[in-house]
Amino acid sequence: MIKEQLETIAQVAAQAFADVRESSELEALRVRFLGKKGELTAILKQMGKLSAEERPVIGALANEVRASIEDKIAAAAAALRERQMQEQIAQETLDVTMPGKRRPIGTQHPLSLVLDEIQDIFIGMGFSVAEGPEVELDYYNFEALNIPKNHPARDTQDTFYITENVLLRSQTSPVQIRVMEKQKPPIRIIAPGRVYRSDAIDATHSPLFHQIEGLVVDKGITMADLKGTLVTFAKTLYGQDAVLRFRPHHFQFTEPSCEMDTMCFACHGEGCRLCKGEGWIELLGAGMVHPKVLQNGGVDPEEYSGFAFGMGLERLVMRRYGIDDMRLFYENDLRFLNQF
Ligand code: PHE
Repeated sequence: MIKEQLETIAQVAAQAFADVRESSELEALRVRFLGKKGELTAILKQMGKLSAEERPVIGALANEVRASIEDKIAAAAAALRERQMQEQIAQETLDVTMPGKRRPIGTQHPLSLVLDEIQDIFIGMGFSVAEGPEVELDYYNFEALNIPKNHPARDTQDTFYITENVLLRSQTSPVQIRVMEKQKPPIRIIAPGRVYRSDAIDATHSPLFHQIEGLVVDKGITMADLKGTLVTFAKTLYGQDAVLRFRPHHFQFTEPSCEMDTMCFACHGEGCRLCKGEGWIELLGAGMVHPKVLQNGGVDPEEYSGFAFGMGLERLVMRRYGIDDMRLFYENDLRFLNQF
């Protein structure tokens, strides 16, 4: 009886393990045959009923059946592992001949491109780059620059006030004072950055734009240094054949003051659309630092003199690339930006 039962189990098991697909199935079969409540165990529990002669014979047979089932489990498990590995290898196959995905590479913004170029030119002349805050005190933006409260010169820069004494800087000139407060002459810096004016947006105006300030302070600095430095700068930027001129002007924080123009690249002085019929294009404002401004920066005007200049970055870039609308700089339209 028991002998037949054992033989049946061996047969059934041989069948069952042949088509195992999942490790969960395999585990279920192991429990079914060899588990504590499994089929083989159930049979072995009847061993007590056997006679003394039968017991060793059936015992040996039972061990054989158990061993053969264990072998089948091990073989099925190995086959399963092998199949899973093959599947994984097939899945992870890398076709190195497939065309790659191109990652788009950005370009530098035209304002950054030209600013970098301008910085390089001044660094080449021994300048270093300084910075100041965009949220500025009225004191630095105006008062220390010889523009007292209620002075009409304030009206030329429509300023965003945050409180009575705090504003968004309307020019980079406040950095002049901040640098002089921190650093003894000789001083040779440029200070690029954002400035703000309450202007309506159109092709040539924006409430946010960029300026580059320059300041040189040392013993014996003269207008000749100003002219030499700015002409060298402009010719490096626009080419050695650029024609430049200085015109007298007025700024509260420089005396004397001037503006530097370049002869129109398009019409060479004839007058055209680019220069609005003038023949000349204004590049920057400059002048000898006012003695009061030196004093406000803690520099003795009896001992030192200096010159300062300021230019609008957007206008330089527009001229450089023939861009006729300032709004293009801020709209982040890729069709525009990709051209640089
Ligand atoms: N800050 C002046 C402006 O915004 C430019 C300037 C700077 C002029 C330094 C002279 C010296 O118009």
